[in-house]
Amino acid sequence: MTSKFYITTPIYYVNASAHIGHSYTTIAADTLARYNRNLLGKDKVRFLTGTDEHGQKIQRAAEKEGLSPQQFTDKIVPTFKNLWAKLDISYDDFIRTTEERHIRAVQRVLEILHAKNEIYAAQYEGWYCIPCETFWTEMQLVENACPDCKRPVEKIQESNYFFKISAYQDWLIDYLKSHLDFIRPASRHEEVCRFLELNKLTDLCISRPQERLGWGIPFSFSPEHVTYVWFDALINYISAVGSFDDKGRYVSEWWGDDVKVVHLIGKDILRQHAVYWPIILKALGIRMPDTVFAHGWWMLGEDKMSKSRGNVVSPLEMVDKFGVDVYRYFLLRDVPFGLDGNFSEDALIKRFNSDLANDLGNLVYRTLTMIEKYYQGNVPQGEFKAADAQAEAIGVKIAHLGHRLASNLGAGDYNFSLALESIWELINMANKYVEDSKPWNLSKEGKTEELRNFILVLVGVIRKVSAAIAPFMPQAAVSIKEQIGQNEIKKGNPLFPRIEIKKV
Ligand code: MSP
Repeated sequence: MTSKFYITTPIYYVNASAHIGHSYTTIAADTLARYNRNLLGKDKVRFLTGTDEHGQKIQRAAEKEGLSPQQFTDKIVPTFKNLWAKLDISYDDFIRTTEERHIRAVQRVLEILHAKNEIYAAQYEGWYCIPCETFWTEMQLVENACPDCKRPVEKIQESNYFFKISAYQDWLIDYLKSHLDFIRPASRHEEVCRFLELNKLTDLCISRPQERLGWGIPFSFSPEHVTYVWFDALINYISAVGSFDDKGRYVSEWWGDDVKVVHLIGKDILRQHAVYWPIILKALGIRMPDTVFAHGWWMLGEDKMSKSRGNVVSPLEMVDKFGVDVYRYFLLRDVPFGLDGNFSEDALIKRFNSDLANDLGNLVYRTLTMIEKYYQGNVPQGEFKAADAQAEAIGVKIAHLGHRLASNLGAGDYNFSLALESIWELINMANKYVEDSKPWNLSKEGKTEELRNFILVLVGVIRKVSAAIAPFMPQAAVSIKEQIGQNEIKKGNPLFPRIEIKKV
């Protein structure tokens, strides 16, 4: 029985500031953390994010600025934390790979695997892509360049440590086939299975010579080596929430059988999470996460948004322009989680005007106006009755909403977009009800009971909606609650005033 929920984002490299893509994973994780806190209780949910601070990329970025790598990362980390604060990210823990708790855990993992003979020393000769920090065989190169980033590779010969991942290939294939929820969405699961069926895994080089790359976690049993940055980074998911006892057993209150463990990642880092990570855990004798969910990319035109392509959009800029809830809403609503999406301000404004200004904002505003007009600002009390077909249908919708949300946010595919759609169905039913009921006539004709019930329906819908949107748009949820209080209303400015395209 899982009664706890542990959710993680990738830990982000600190060589560049975060762009929309990074914020996407973090906002998605935040939404799931908030949703689960509401269901399970605050202390049953753990939400981890953090920064990946070792490796050549960081070392070079620091050198460029004339700083030591530690000074450099200390300078960048607050920019991530500020952004997350601005985006209302409610993480419980922020891990930096330069922290003592993490370094100790990585060294212990290496010692344990070494003692178990899962790691061996050998001579390495081959091609190395510095930006990707990846070794390639001659065969894997594409036109003598890195098959991933297409940049030139360097020939390298050195002594290193290798992790015997090749021994786990059959185990992993079996594991994936019998755990269809392990890699989601299904298309990514198939992609990994196909990769494993068509390729033979080669043992993973998990060290770098200290003299070539100083900025990494040293091996305790071989100080002239530091840890390969990906091996170092993956360990964050366990180093943040537990530790190893004398016998090398991992102990954590967030990694037991009563915990649902979910890693959210972008599809760019699927291989590391779907192949290396489960094998590391298996070799350590630690249980697997429940799900690794790889979402799609935000693109700008034809290209993936990324620092190296120089086509990034700043989340801060978007938030300053449109507001944090709008930004969160757009990212989660516009594209089904798992697929690629195209970012544009036009698309954001369109969504804003139709879903937020027209639908939600309008429902709240017209309800406030009617309570003001017909009830002098005092909110009618009580449950509404299924007095007509529309009120009845709305009642059914309200009763089923929790279930719809659970099936989209609680399991499988984390379909934020569909979850929001189901909330909007309710909003639209209520707006239609206003248009069909013609409350001004009810008032004129003195049909006070009908009018009261009609308002109760709207208040019921708005309360349900504000609770349901809270994980997605925490601020809007609070301000709706403030405007339509338990007893009286506090009419403020419209929640989402329409944006005229010309103005922007
Ligand atoms: N440090 C590694 C991750 C280690 S996790 C143990 C890393 N960092 S990163 O800074 O490059 O961030 C990669 C992640 O940022 C992606 O997996 C994804 O979550 C997010 N995105 C970066 N660009 C993106 C888009 N254009 N679109 C969507 N998400 C993207 O890799």
